[in-house]
Amino acid sequence: MASGQLSRDKALECSSSRHACHVMLYSDTASQLFGRTPIKHIVLMQMRFDGLLGFPGGLVDPSEETLEEGLTRELLEELGVAVPVSVEDYVESRFAPSHPPTSSSSSSPLILHFYVKKIEEEQIREIEKAAASTAADHGLEVLGMVRVPLYSTKSHAGFSCFLSHSFIGNARSQLVDSLLRLHLVSPGELRRALRSSQRMNA
Ligand code: GTP
Ligand code: MN
Ligand code: MN
Ligand code: MN
Ligand code: MN
Ligand code: MN
Repeated sequence: MASGQLSRDKALECSSSRHACHVMLYSDTASQLFGRTPIKHIVLMQMRFDGLLGFPGGLVDPSEETLEEGLTRELLEELGVAVPVSVEDYVESRFAPSHPPTSSSSSSPLILHFYVKKIEEEQIREIEKAAASTAADHGLEVLGMVRVPLYSTKSHAGFSCFLSHSFIGNARSQLVDSLLRLHLVSPGELRRALRSSQRMNA
């Protein structure tokens, strides 16, 4: 297992830890940008209150709810729609890196649980509509949902530009790892985008 990673069962034994669950919701799409660039997949992230990009979800209390119940509750608050997420959508759990690692004054360790769920394009549109209107957290904890551009433009912007923004926690690697694992981008495209995003931030 990769460093910081632990099994779902081991994670749930850590009763003194705090737990958070986040999910990457995505769909296929046939739409084309400018009528010529296939978008292929819609991946949803959000602009958080702190200006960082992250996935929808939040803190759950395993003593009062299952991880999936807690995640579904957070999604209702942040998206305004009940998107049921189940154990089948679970990907991994890992400790959030602490800063500084040995700080004695810091609060209890945080375990981050990550899920991915494929939905229909129509559901994506419903989520976007609700998230911008009826969602309790709209304009507060969540400033807006965003789609991830997975394509590259002629000027090498697009995916690379998106990756050059700032992300909460390990959301950026959750995104990159999931896109690779689900074959939503090819390893070559990803390598090019990562290299060019580094240049943008240099
Ligand atoms: P409150 O309702 O204000 O408690 O927020 P929340 O429950 O929605 O919690 P939040 O989504 O901010 O997640 C809790 C913690 O998990 C954050 O402080 C981050 O450290 C971490 N976190 C948030 N989003 C992500 C994400 O997309 N990926 C990862 N890995 N961690 C995240
Ligand atoms: Mn236009
Ligand atoms: Mn929340
Ligand atoms: Mn949240
Ligand atoms: Mn919360
Ligand atoms: Mn909240």
